[in-house]
Amino acid sequence: MFKRTIPLLQRVSKPFYITTPIFYPNAAPHLGHLYSMLLCDVRNRWAKLSGNDSFFTTGTDEHGLKIQLAAEAKNVPPKQFVDSLALVFKDLAATCSIDYDRFIRTTDEDHVKAVEQVWNTLQEKGWIYEGEHEGWYAISDETFYPRTQIKQEEDGKWVSIESGSEVKLTKEKNYFFKLSEFREKLIQLLESNPQWIIPGQKYNELLNELKSQPLADLSVSRPSARLKWGIQVPGDDSQRIYVWIDALVNYLTSCKYPELNQYWSNATHLIGKDIIRFHCVYWPALLMAAEIPLPKQVVVHGHWLCEGSKMSKSKGNVVDPLQIINDYGVDPVRFFLCENSVLNGDNNFSVESLQRSRDQLVDKYSNLVMRCCGKKFNVERALKEYDTLNEHQFEDPILQQQLTNLKQSINSLYDKMNTDMVQLNTAAAIQEFWSVISDANQFIQDSEPWKREQLEKDLIILMGVETARVASILIQPVMPELSLKVLDRLNVVNRDLSHAKFGADKSYGKGINRAGDYPMTK
Ligand code: ME8
Ligand code: MG
Repeated sequence: MFKRTIPLLQRVSKPFYITTPIFYPNAAPHLGHLYSMLLCDVRNRWAKLSGNDSFFTTGTDEHGLKIQLAAEAKNVPPKQFVDSLALVFKDLAATCSIDYDRFIRTTDEDHVKAVEQVWNTLQEKGWIYEGEHEGWYAISDETFYPRTQIKQEEDGKWVSIESGSEVKLTKEKNYFFKLSEFREKLIQLLESNPQWIIPGQKYNELLNELKSQPLADLSVSRPSARLKWGIQVPGDDSQRIYVWIDALVNYLTSCKYPELNQYWSNATHLIGKDIIRFHCVYWPALLMAAEIPLPKQVVVHGHWLCEGSKMSKSKGNVVDPLQIINDYGVDPVRFFLCENSVLNGDNNFSVESLQRSRDQLVDKYSNLVMRCCGKKFNVERALKEYDTLNEHQFEDPILQQQLTNLKQSINSLYDKMNTDMVQLNTAAAIQEFWSVISDANQFIQDSEPWKREQLEKDLIILMGVETARVASILIQPVMPELSLKVLDRLNVVNRDLSHAKFGADKSYGKGINRAGDYPMTK
């Protein structure tokens, strides 16, 4: 008999699963879509850096009337239409270092099977019935709105109050899901899991809504005569499955439903605030009905506004991510989006703040690195003398205090960033990054290493370069390329979490004290 050895990582790592909404490929992606992908990518990379076994999906929501009409307008068959747009989304992901594990398309064969299976399960368990439906449908949002949520515009058109999308009175035979029976269970779910939806404000709003209004049953199919481009209701050729049911099941497909792998019960769905009802009411109710375990958490983010108004493909006021990436670079854009956004509110895009954010990367981060790489210093020598330097005390008590504090800040940086990152509070995590970088720059400025004899000069530069090294390891999830360039410039090989402590790596620094080779310039 031989013993099977399990690699260390596998033994300690917990599964983690994060998803973006799958996007409608009816037009090219805009900054808002990139933002959702980016937040998930950062969270996924953070989980991996932290030693988790993490899985990340994004993709395209390809069926439905909205896509059918967009394809008709272009005079191309819907499949050909979505094939080309799915590629545009994939290209954006590739350009922006969005390192997903699966790009799921609802036209994928395994997905269609999963949707049929979920439908059959719901039907077998008695949650679906046939009925007649009359209501106000917004094609742009692929949803019905109740009479109380629409208004008539001056031009006579009816629109949704919330989204502004045009609605049309529609009457048809539909299948219905008995959503109304899940109201109590949904209230219970939320009350016993106060973190099930974050931020808390969104949780409170939804819980209050559930408590104060009855839930109507949900129409879950459309007549095939109108909706041609969709998955057929099993056993009824006259009906197609409602695109939102189709879309939500993507999260299960990626986990190999119906078997379901280790990721499923650790699922975190990241969504924009426009689709809370679908993810926090319909989705858990459908899962409960099908007796499938629920995801762990839904994280809601706000919208990017452009000049005060929500960016949307239908409105045409979109910021093209490829354009700003072309002008400012991928990592500065990633950094800017993470630094200048909060979950709990909307974020205003402006070129000036992007420029400011990028300038700071050069002035503070890249500059710290280049200071330590100056020709007058010798990082390799400093690291060889590490033990001696580490015992040295400055005569000036203020400098000594700065040094002690800086060491502590370097060593607690991961824990501080981690608290924020697991809540997808990227702006706060980046503030921690800036705080230690600023302290290091300040320390170098105040201690004036260029005026000192060798030992203190080496010690000061060691503090600077250790800050740059550890901060760079920990900022990898946000800026995978720039951090790589910085770590290359410092000749650092060990880039994992176990080395993100002061003095945890003494093997780098060879040949780095030379002029030039800036990781980033203005
Ligand atoms: O709703 N700011 O797809 P969609 C920030 N297919 N994020 C934004 C944004 C903005 N201005 N605009 C869009 C759908 N988003 C469905 C989802 S999931 C099972 C099906 C992001 O193309 C945000 O994540 O309209 C929002 O929820 C999503 O894109 C909507 O994308
Ligand atoms: Mg939308």
